[in-house]
Amino acid sequence: MDSKRSVEWQGRRVLVTGGAGFVGSHLVDALVDSGAHVTVLDDLSTGRLENLLPRLADDQVRLVRGSILDPRALDEALRGATHLFHLAAAVGVKRILERPFGAIRINVQGTERVLAQAARHGLRTFIASSSEVYGPGSGPFREDQPLVIGSPDSIRWSYGCSKALGEFEALNFHRRHGLPATVLRLFNVVGPRQRGRFGMVLPRFVQAAQTGQPLQVVGDGEQRRCFCDVSDAVEAILRLAESPASIGTICNVGSDVELTIGQLAERVVQWLGSSSVIEHVEPDRLYPPGFAEIARRRPSLDRLLELTGFRPSIPLETTVRQIAREPRLRDSAAQAGGAEA
Ligand SMILES: NC(=O)c1ccc[n+]([C@@H]2O[C@H](COP(=O)([O-])OP(=O)(O)OC[C@H]3O[C@@H](n4cnc5c(N)ncnc54)[C@H](O)[C@@H]3O)[C@@H](O)[C@H]2O)c1
Repeated sequence: MDSKRSVEWQGRRVLVTGGAGFVGSHLVDALVDSGAHVTVLDDLSTGRLENLLPRLADDQVRLVRGSILDPRALDEALRGATHLFHLAAAVGVKRILERPFGAIRINVQGTERVLAQAARHGLRTFIASSSEVYGPGSGPFREDQPLVIGSPDSIRWSYGCSKALGEFEALNFHRRHGLPATVLRLFNVVGPRQRGRFGMVLPRFVQAAQTGQPLQVVGDGEQRRCFCDVSDAVEAILRLAESPASIGTICNVGSDVELTIGQLAERVVQWLGSSSVIEHVEPDRLYPPGFAEIARRRPSLDRLLELTGFRPSIPLETTVRQIAREPRLRDSAAQAGGAEA
């Protein structure tokens, strides 16, 4: 553990909503390792108890199982907290497509309730937003540029729109009520514990490569994306949390190293020595008519560098090998690989 970090977090009482999820559980690990007392509020809708099991078994984490929409669960989880990382959200293309109303309610109304309580308790607050707020542009996306709202004809944009409203809520609480809040705009985070069930491409590719199934690439595979290892993302988040200058700001968190989804499929096959073939499938095999696939998504990392001096650098090959070493992924859901949200 880095000694500066342990000074920052030793004895702090931190609430992580969505802490049983992919990014949340890695953040919980890092906070506990730095000496923080961590409470997780999670309804386990997409998160998993297994992600927290070692921490729960050692009494290093308190779990409140419930929804951010439930005032009693929220009150219980907030007891004694000084810091809040709000990651709970309806996430993933598939989940948004399947439950569009629920997703908006959780991401907008849920976030407002969490922020209102954070403001009441004066918590140092971080909320996870998404690169989806930038809409259908190509980047490099800068935090101060205008956001483009994709057409409501494509249900995809309801997720980005709901996350953008969460950002407005957080910054309004900052401006109107002095809430020390920071917005984290995450771009494609990848690593162990991520599941393919809700539309995430890399775990599905790794699983397919390991089981000899075809890696299914949506369309021509020329969509370009950047993938950030979850350890790098958590490091960036904690460095932002340790930077007073990040209060009242929005900051991109991700990698700016680009590759196409077709290249991703080829490299996964190569790195894992797989005999799987790569198959191209039409978008309508996976998505409803009118679903918008985006061509390119790349962050500007200038602000992250300026605020923290940190730039994600873990090579994708390292991440892919780590994912492959996880116990067999149990999700056997659709394997088609478009780019995730
Ligand atoms: N992983 C990425 O690449 C990525 C990219 C952009 C943004 N984000 C954002 O980061 C955050 C975490 O995403 P993730 O990838 O870890 O997804 P995840 O699905 O693994 O984590 C979300 C967690 O929130 C919990 N949750 C959902 N609804 C809830 C509710 N009503 N009450 C309490 N808990 C609830 C889920 O059970 C899950 O544990 C989300 O806010 C997401 O929008 C992630």
